[in-house]
Amino acid sequence: EKGGYEHFMLKEIFEQPRAIGDCMRGRLSANEGRLVLGGIREYANKLVNAERIIIVACGTSWHSGLVAEYFFEEFCRIPVEVEYASEFRYRNPVINEGDVVFAISQSGETADTLAAIELAKSKGAIIFGVCNVVGSSISRISHEGAYTHAGPEIGVASTKAFTAQLTVLNMIALRVAHQKGTITERRYHELLVELENIPAKVEKALKLDDQIKAISERFQNARNFIYLGRGYNFPVALEGALKLKEISYIHAEGYPAAEMKHGPIALIDEEMPVVFIATRDSSYDKVVSNIQEVKARKGKVIAVVTEGDALIPQMAEFVIEVPKTDEALMPMVSVIPLQLLSYHIAVMRGCNVDQPRNLAKSVTVE
Ligand code: F6R
Repeated sequence: EKGGYEHFMLKEIFEQPRAIGDCMRGRLSANEGRLVLGGIREYANKLVNAERIIIVACGTSWHSGLVAEYFFEEFCRIPVEVEYASEFRYRNPVINEGDVVFAISQSGETADTLAAIELAKSKGAIIFGVCNVVGSSISRISHEGAYTHAGPEIGVASTKAFTAQLTVLNMIALRVAHQKGTITERRYHELLVELENIPAKVEKALKLDDQIKAISERFQNARNFIYLGRGYNFPVALEGALKLKEISYIHAEGYPAAEMKHGPIALIDEEMPVVFIATRDSSYDKVVSNIQEVKARKGKVIAVVTEGDALIPQMAEFVIEVPKTDEALMPMVSVIPLQLLSYHIAVMRGCNVDQPRNLAKSVTVE
């Protein structure tokens, strides 16, 4: 059932090219410029005309929500608020009739997310569900939505569900932007083509496995880790840190790289591994300066960069090269080495990666 892999988590990491492909199948054809989401029909215009979007989720799904915020704002010019379901539901949030709420959940059973959308629905909001488990509670209570079709995710640490969520949310944002006319035809088509290329790029990123295993060996006894990124890679930094702490029990923090100087920089010494997600994008030069700040304090830099980067390899101890893609789609590729890094470190430390202590696959208690 693990298909020859030692753990479900590793199997699911390696399934991502297929999972992302399945998620796009029948929905996207770059050739024909077609993007059809069967589950978003009746309420599609509500979404197109939304004055704001609220996204509610927990954990890794909340990180997908953060990336989706950037999609909807950049492509659709709709303001987005991304909320922890548990905070949103208890603070008497402002929800108006016709507001659009997205609930993102792999299991579709997370108690806080479910309660948050029940609350929003009772106030007249339109709920779109992005779930993996077909027929789950969240998918049933939502007005409309789109499944991620990643297949069953057994490992407690979410991997393929995350990249499939990003795929769906990206397709939804592009579909809305195209109808609204907030994206140029050219960029729309470029992104459709790039989306179709993502499974092959993820496949290529998975070939880094041996290199990442070697890096994992070097850092398996670290007591702390910091993950830094900016823009689309900021939520990837949060996700990398979450993956590491939940399965290896190493304390890790994810931060937007520029926030480092407002506190966490005090943690940096020659013992501190700092993972930078530093791919070539609009914040590249800024991230390079942040790497210099860490180097000046003797931190050990592990950098995820775009293939062919000539500058960062002169600065970082370890460099992981991922294929180039559009910056909006990079999280689907740049997260792969971070998933593998946490997996290998956890295995080396003798941890039960598929069932980490104190965690359950679906959190049906609040
Ligand atoms: C992290 C992880 C959790 C879940 C969270 C939400 O690897 O698995 O943080 O992402 O419990 O679960 P879903 O997506 O099922 O609502």
